[in-house]
Amino acid sequence: GKGWMTQHLVQYQGFWVNPDAALKNLMWIQDHFKPRPTDIFLASFPKSGTTWLKALIFAIVNRTRYGFADHPLLTTGPHDCFPFLYAHLYEKDRSRFDLDGFPSPRLLSSHIPYTSLPNSMTDSQSYRFIYICRDPKDVLVSTWLFMNKLRPKELAPLSLEEAFELFCQGISPYGPFWDHVLGYWIASLETPEKILFLKYEELKKESFVIVKSLGEFLGYPFSLEEESKGVVEEIVKLCSFEKLSNLEVNRTSVQKFSKGARVDNRHFFREGKVGDWKNYLTAEMVQRLDEITYHNLLPSGLLFPT
Ligand code: A3P
Repeated sequence: GKGWMTQHLVQYQGFWVNPDAALKNLMWIQDHFKPRPTDIFLASFPKSGTTWLKALIFAIVNRTRYGFADHPLLTTGPHDCFPFLYAHLYEKDRSRFDLDGFPSPRLLSSHIPYTSLPNSMTDSQSYRFIYICRDPKDVLVSTWLFMNKLRPKELAPLSLEEAFELFCQGISPYGPFWDHVLGYWIASLETPEKILFLKYEELKKESFVIVKSLGEFLGYPFSLEEESKGVVEEIVKLCSFEKLSNLEVNRTSVQKFSKGARVDNRHFFREGKVGDWKNYLTAEMVQRLDEITYHNLLPSGLLFPT
């Protein structure tokens, strides 16, 4: 049978979602979310580097407001600086997530598939999307370990074999992985001025270059003076896995996932590496997953470094 993490998922507009939390949230976005032309929207498949990019974008956009010695990211988690859109559905203190009251530019994020976005967001000329994706082998391992950490104590853990099999069939939160990635990839090819498509592996390797292009894309380009002062490097350092994962706030705080469900923020910081799948997946698993990935993504020209 299916493991606890997937047995309650339902398919909605082609993607597997949790019927309580994710589905309600997707429908709320479609029916009630009021986009602003200045919004900056971060989209991702879960476990692809969302937390990291939240920190980076927050630091880039707000860099003239805060010094690095007493930066908000040192005492507030990335998910509180840059909320998931669903957060306001569960927050008791509505004022913290009064979306209409947020100053512009609003930093908002969601795992919503591109094809499920309301037209009001996709048609707007000025709306900016950033999408981050990651090698599905690392996404699978990260998802599997994360889900087992969130697992209710009375339930048995999901085995890697089970998680792998389901993932290959496209059954995981917001899966199929490949359809999710393709939605944003194709849209980014059609409207590159609106959607910046990033890969975790490249962000890791070329942090400096990508942070600069993020600034450019978002309308906050780095000046020569800032560059010579080392502002880009400061941002990269502040948002690094080493820095963020060791901060007290990211080791102890919790966030609400859905009604009643809470998750420790430290679970968003595990290894933070490229290729940790090598420590978990068998050669057969690697071959099968790579084949599915090539089959699904190659025609569109999207590749992951292996
Ligand atoms: P691992 O489980 O492979 O370590 P998301 O934020 O989308 O949920 O993704 C979580 C993944 O990003 C985890 O991967 C986590 O460790 C990694 N991560 C979190 N913060 C990071 C950072 N600052 N730099 C690089 N990776 C980070």
